[in-house]
Amino acid sequence: MFRSRSKDRAATSPDPATMASKKPKHSRTHNTKKPSPSRSKHVPALLLMLLFVLILLVAFVIFSHQVRTKGTPSAKDITSFLHKTVKSFDGLGEKEQQWTEVISWEPRAAVFHNFLSREECEYLIGLAKPRMEKSEVVDSTTGKSVDSGVRTSSGTFLTRGHDKIVRSIEERIAKSTFIPVEHGEGLHVLRYELGQMYEPHFDYFLDEFNPKNGGQRMATVLMYLSDVEEGGETVFPDAKGNISAVPWWNELSECAKKGLSVKPKMGDAILFWSMKPDATLDPSSLHGACPVIKGTKWSCAKWMRVNEYQV
Ligand SMILES: *[C@@H]1O[C@H](CO)[C@@H](O)[C@H](O)[C@H]1NC(C)=O
Repeated sequence: MFRSRSKDRAATSPDPATMASKKPKHSRTHNTKKPSPSRSKHVPALLLMLLFVLILLVAFVIFSHQVRTKGTPSAKDITSFLHKTVKSFDGLGEKEQQWTEVISWEPRAAVFHNFLSREECEYLIGLAKPRMEKSEVVDSTTGKSVDSGVRTSSGTFLTRGHDKIVRSIEERIAKSTFIPVEHGEGLHVLRYELGQMYEPHFDYFLDEFNPKNGGQRMATVLMYLSDVEEGGETVFPDAKGNISAVPWWNELSECAKKGLSVKPKMGDAILFWSMKPDATLDPSSLHGACPVIKGTKWSCAKWMRVNEYQV
């Protein structure tokens, strides 16, 4: 069994004693007629592996250079990054290029550009229009919906899975947020007319009744179904970071300049989290809808719960 080093290195044929002692261990994978690999045979394999790693490195350098030189509009904020997504579009209408822009980490918020097609926006407005009712807010002690001056819009809920088009939008939201469709409330279509707004609030519940079905609200996807000529921005007054670093800063209304704001654009959506990753409530998710100064604003919210939400 004992062999000298030089002999071992030079060996090209298996030693019968070694083979015999190894055989039971490898009986399922090794053929007795095949010689077991020796050190000299490892050299070409190692060279091949090195070559492979080298090719990978070169490919990576070329790829990262291409990505860097492509150039996309940026929020110029150190806390933001852009992520281009090439998704297959299964929805209604024409697909436009979609990309994701993280706008804040506190709260965690991102813009999904061209999340909905124009046709989908028009379809949702058409579904909701005949059923609009004055919006209400949740009373934090009773958990009941009440009429309030802090929210002057109109709205209506569309049942989850309402139809094929609604389902495809709901599936897109689930894929983009990693929150299952079953955790979502029905889509809530909202209309804000001249001067209408929603004062800064949290999407999570402060009462104990509403979380009974589905638990707390964890995240929100807010889709803009129309452009708004002036005003109507979504504002996060308590967002950390440089709020004036957004590229659209100069187009914002006075109300919107009081925080980190997103200007409504038909088809765009924002995702923000009302909970931190440790499942505690995130007060920096405070947000409001600025008054519409010119035009009409249509939006659509998807609120997502921690658990399955029964419809
Ligand atoms: C915030 O961003 C703006 C625009 O990029 C820049 O001019 C300004 O200096 C920044 N402020 C701070 C405090 O970093």
